[in-house]
Amino acid sequence: METELLADLIVAGKKVVVFTGAGISTESGIPDFRSPGGIWSKYDPDEFTIQKFLSSSEARRKQWKMLTKSSLTTEAKPNLAHYAIAELNSLGKLDCVVTQNVDNLHQEAGVPHDKVLELHGNMRWVVCLTCRRRFPMKEVLQMIEQGTEIPDCPNCHGILKPDAVFFGEALPEETLVDATIRSQNCDLFIVIGSSLVVYPAAYMPMYAKDAGAKLAIINLTPTALDRYAAVVITRKAGETMSKVMESVRKKIPLSR
Ligand code: APR
Repeated sequence: METELLADLIVAGKKVVVFTGAGISTESGIPDFRSPGGIWSKYDPDEFTIQKFLSSSEARRKQWKMLTKSSLTTEAKPNLAHYAIAELNSLGKLDCVVTQNVDNLHQEAGVPHDKVLELHGNMRWVVCLTCRRRFPMKEVLQMIEQGTEIPDCPNCHGILKPDAVFFGEALPEETLVDATIRSQNCDLFIVIGSSLVVYPAAYMPMYAKDAGAKLAIINLTPTALDRYAAVVITRKAGETMSKVMESVRKKIPLSR
């Protein structure tokens, strides 16, 4: 049974990196991007390039309008899969979480902030492109609810942008380097809920594999990297990770 095999790999592991995508948050009510009914079946990704956002105030008005209606800014709650990863951390097994998600749910589930490497930023914050001040997304959404169509920086009236990485925008350099190094130095790399089609994030599993780590993939649909994985589980993340951790708890000697 694959969950037993993954549990054995976790028990044997000393430095586990968990790599997550939107699929880990669908059970929290946030749709993913590429499943049927996902975000890119409702919105055109070309509307979300940084070039478009900066091109005109009309483009910014449209994007803020979509953001306030989309699930990307709703306050969802962590699910069983997020809590299972937090338990990995309390067992002293977790080196870090490398996530493509911007929903802050790993931190909410109890993974320490310094162990969550957000390759695509965090939608709970908004940044001013002029003075670089950051504001909680909640505050900016209130400005929009009170009638502001294109929020500008309360400090310097510069352009405000959600602190998530837009298409065409560089990923946070330090985070990307850190994630790369940790992927190359772990002994087990677990992918949860990602189609592994967006780069450079999707390089991480192969960095780990090429450096000698075991690769495990939990994803409802097949990925291009399944053939490199020691374990592939095509079932839901929440139930799978709960079963895996139940088995890990039974296997870890009580003396630990
Ligand atoms: N359990 C396990 N897997 C799931 C679940 C679930 N409950 N729900 C969905 N999945 C799987 C889907 O089968 C899909 O393969 O999660 C994967 C999510 O893939 P994508 O929607 O492509 O999301 P992701 O891989 O995170 O996309 C990467 O693309 O658009 C950009 O910036 C965006 O960070 C995002 C990046």
